[in-house]
Amino acid sequence: MTWRAQAPSNLALIKYMGKTDASNQPLNTSLSWTMSNLISEVVLTESAQTQWRPLDPVHGTQSMSLSETGRNKFLKHFDFLCRQWGVEGSYEIASRNNFPSDCGLASSASSFAALTLATYKLACERGSKWLDLNQNQLAALSRQGSGSSCRSFFAPWAIWDEQGARAIELPVKEIIHHVVVVSRDKKGVSSSQAHQRVQASPLLKGRAERAHERLHLLLNAFEDSDWRSAYEVVWGEFWDMHVLFETSSPPFGYMTARSLAVLEWCRAYWDQHDDGPLVTMDAGPNVHVLFRPDQLEIIAKLKGHFGDMVL
Ligand code: PMV
Repeated sequence: MTWRAQAPSNLALIKYMGKTDASNQPLNTSLSWTMSNLISEVVLTESAQTQWRPLDPVHGTQSMSLSETGRNKFLKHFDFLCRQWGVEGSYEIASRNNFPSDCGLASSASSFAALTLATYKLACERGSKWLDLNQNQLAALSRQGSGSSCRSFFAPWAIWDEQGARAIELPVKEIIHHVVVVSRDKKGVSSSQAHQRVQASPLLKGRAERAHERLHLLLNAFEDSDWRSAYEVVWGEFWDMHVLFETSSPPFGYMTARSLAVLEWCRAYWDQHDDGPLVTMDAGPNVHVLFRPDQLEIIAKLKGHFGDMVL
């Protein structure tokens, strides 16, 4: 017998960076767009021992690989959920993404959300407790495995603050997401490590206030259909996070010359046309670009310039 679930990844425009405790309570409110095109899938099967393996990759992607730390984190979350819901026995956990993992494409968000959902299905059949959890409760449990995964339970927009994650209604209903993949290498510093290491940055003081101020500005920009203001807020926000990385002790970072080339292209486009995409980066070198549906021409230009790197 198998239990299977899928979950989408999400992209924060106001970032979650820094935690207030070990259960991934965020230092500040974050806001994300759910990327329904980037999906993780988890399949649980009864087995002689609990272990992880990659699921056969979907066409056009590579088989997923997880570092030992990544694998242990995944298994630990499964164990936590099983204890929570009274599930006994051992299971093979197989997973895959339809996109490259561990390079700033937020694969932990979708993987942990899918793992939580698949384990919930298992627990509803095999657990010792009667369960009737809603999305908010499932998101709160998923958060304990990977903070940003709690936002993947809501679409198209999710907001996450000290009360938990939930959907938020915004007038922007359609966004075309692309990512310029400048590198598929595994990252040197995981996002879990980044959350800890930014504690050493003197700029962490005031970070929650800056994020809240930007959230407010961004929500207003969306309400007013003011795409340029949205771009400027989102641009300042990812730089703020990357500056936390670079002002940590010792400093660390993810930007490469190729990331900067993409950023420069986007900024120049805005400067020349007074229009362009929203641009953001997570804890990785790849650059996410978000377009309105009427901006197909700009997408074509981006693809013309960066070719196969545009996913
Ligand atoms: O959920 P984590 O621990 O992988 O942290 C994610 C952090 C960022 O992706 C950099 C920002 C965010 O809000 O998703």
